[in-house]
Amino acid sequence: ESYVRSIPQAQYYRNVLMQGYFVPPSILEGLENFEIRPHDIFIITYPKSGTTWTEEIISLIYNGGDTKKVQKKLLIFRVHHLEVGRPIGHLRFLRKLRSPRLMATHLPLDLIPKQLREAQCKVIYVMRNPKDNVVSYYHHHQISTSLGNYTGSWDDFLTLFLKGHLVYGSWFDHVLSYWKFHQQHPEKVLFISYEELKMDLERMIERIANFLDRPLHPEAIKNIAHHCSFDQMKNNNMVNREQLPVTDFFNMSHTKFMRKGIIGDWKNYFTPEQNETFEKVCKEKMAGSGLHLVFEP
Ligand code: A3P
Repeated sequence: ESYVRSIPQAQYYRNVLMQGYFVPPSILEGLENFEIRPHDIFIITYPKSGTTWTEEIISLIYNGGDTKKVQKKLLIFRVHHLEVGRPIGHLRFLRKLRSPRLMATHLPLDLIPKQLREAQCKVIYVMRNPKDNVVSYYHHHQISTSLGNYTGSWDDFLTLFLKGHLVYGSWFDHVLSYWKFHQQHPEKVLFISYEELKMDLERMIERIANFLDRPLHPEAIKNIAHHCSFDQMKNNNMVNREQLPVTDFFNMSHTKFMRKGIIGDWKNYFTPEQNETFEKVCKEKMAGSGLHLVFEP
């Protein structure tokens, strides 16, 4: 339908809708056998769940909390996206990186490299409550050139989200399959949420650092938390996408990539009817998972 037509070079890769602008089939096809190293670190998220935030945190953890070391290098050159890159040479580029490689992906569990599905390295999965997640994804679709600068309605967008028809597929399938993955490999896969980061950033930085066997001094934790607050990151050109090697990635004349950064913005978008439908689908899909979703600050 019209959503799919609005996505540049839209393609279904093993039943999941992808944009081909930055995620070419040539990369996806090469991923199954992409080699994972024991010291790789992967951040895995459904889009708009706090990927950039977590990337900046782990980049700082690997720099011992020294914020000076990340002041002059764009985040996209410090944490590499697995499936996003040039049609030719991207995987070769990833293979040439020195360890430890810090990487990120939005791909559903079925589409990540086989060795990553076997948890051959540490993974941090970040979930965000789906109501705020869809609001953020809606705005992202408007600013993002690679997603066709969405001009459709909020109501249509919400319906597509609930049906799992957006780029990267169903939020529910994504979260539930990685939740299971975490339960199967608890020492290898850390499962955290945007809301936990928001509510106690210092404690979460400590948890992430300990999980990565890179414990930090309390002073370093404080520095990272300050550097990674929303206000700091919003004004930090190394992470806020205002400064990129290619300038037509985003049209940020109305909304910024660092948009609001809060829990509960969904209340400004959901009508009572939309909320009722959403709750119903959400309850059905999440039943029995044991996952706890936080919708309020
Ligand atoms: P909003 O659109 O709700 O503001 P991703 O990096 O996965 O694309 O996620 C982007 C979302 O994370 C945006 O949400 C963005 O504002 C928010 N975000 C980024 N850095 C943040 C921070 N330091 N604190 C809180 N939210 C942050």
